[in-house]
Amino acid sequence: MVISIASRKMYHPHLTEDGVFQGGERDYEGRLRKIEQVIDFNGARVLDLGCSGGFFSFSLAKKAAFVCAVDADEELQNQNRITKERLGLNNIEFLTATLTPSFLKSLPQFDVVLFLSVFHHFFATSGTYDWCDSNSSSAYEVLEAIKAIGNVLVFETGHPDEGFEWCQDIQQTSGELREWVRQTVFGDSYARVLTLRGTAYDHSPFKIMPFLRRLIPANKYGRKAIKMLGLDVRDFRDIHIGFRF
Ligand SMILES: C[S@@+](CC[C@H](N)C(=O)[O-])C[C@H]1O[C@@H](n2cnc3c(N)ncnc32)[C@H](O)[C@@H]1O
Repeated sequence: MVISIASRKMYHPHLTEDGVFQGGERDYEGRLRKIEQVIDFNGARVLDLGCSGGFFSFSLAKKAAFVCAVDADEELQNQNRITKERLGLNNIEFLTATLTPSFLKSLPQFDVVLFLSVFHHFFATSGTYDWCDSNSSSAYEVLEAIKAIGNVLVFETGHPDEGFEWCQDIQQTSGELREWVRQTVFGDSYARVLTLRGTAYDHSPFKIMPFLRRLIPANKYGRKAIKMLGLDVRDFRDIHIGFRF
């Protein structure tokens, strides 16, 4: 199922008339806060791969020296360029491109690479993002090209039990996902890998009963209950940060 431009625009917070970011489907502030607790972005060169509505890029541009934000979604990138003008920022560049090994190899080095909630779409054949052909390159070749770019990699991926259409396509990551990410994504290339639990765990009852994280979202009543609690199943995704040195 292809996502409409209206839903794509609602996914990230948008800039209001008053010049503040509001709305969005997930806990963006919480995710950003977790990442900023372990990475110093002051003066950093940041690459945001699959930037969507640009929330992370715009937020980090306040501290970073430069942010390069890449997404294959031309309509969202046009909207991001307008937002950039409105904010008067001159240290962000929005590139419209599909993430392929050859595109990634053409990029310069960055201090920090964000690759958040994009990787699972490389395995999905459900055509969610029909404006780019993620399946044209091997997910693992794309990953190797990404790992060659920066000193710090911030990685988050979809879980196979979230109940979305693409979940059946990512069964290779079922089982112990955290271990899969550590071995398959980071491997021996990083000196240290930190795993931060998804922000939804910070809310009771999941903080005290983590096993519910697997049980509850696995059926539609559980997902409804989670929605009623004001949580999003996607915010259970761990955020993994690899430091090369
Ligand atoms: C689920 S959103 C994640 C947005 C953001 N990184 C976050 O975590 O909030 C995935 C984004 O990746 C982009 N995307 C997916 N596959 C891509 C590809 N092969 N090349 C470039 N962009 C891609 C989509 O257009 C979409 O904006």
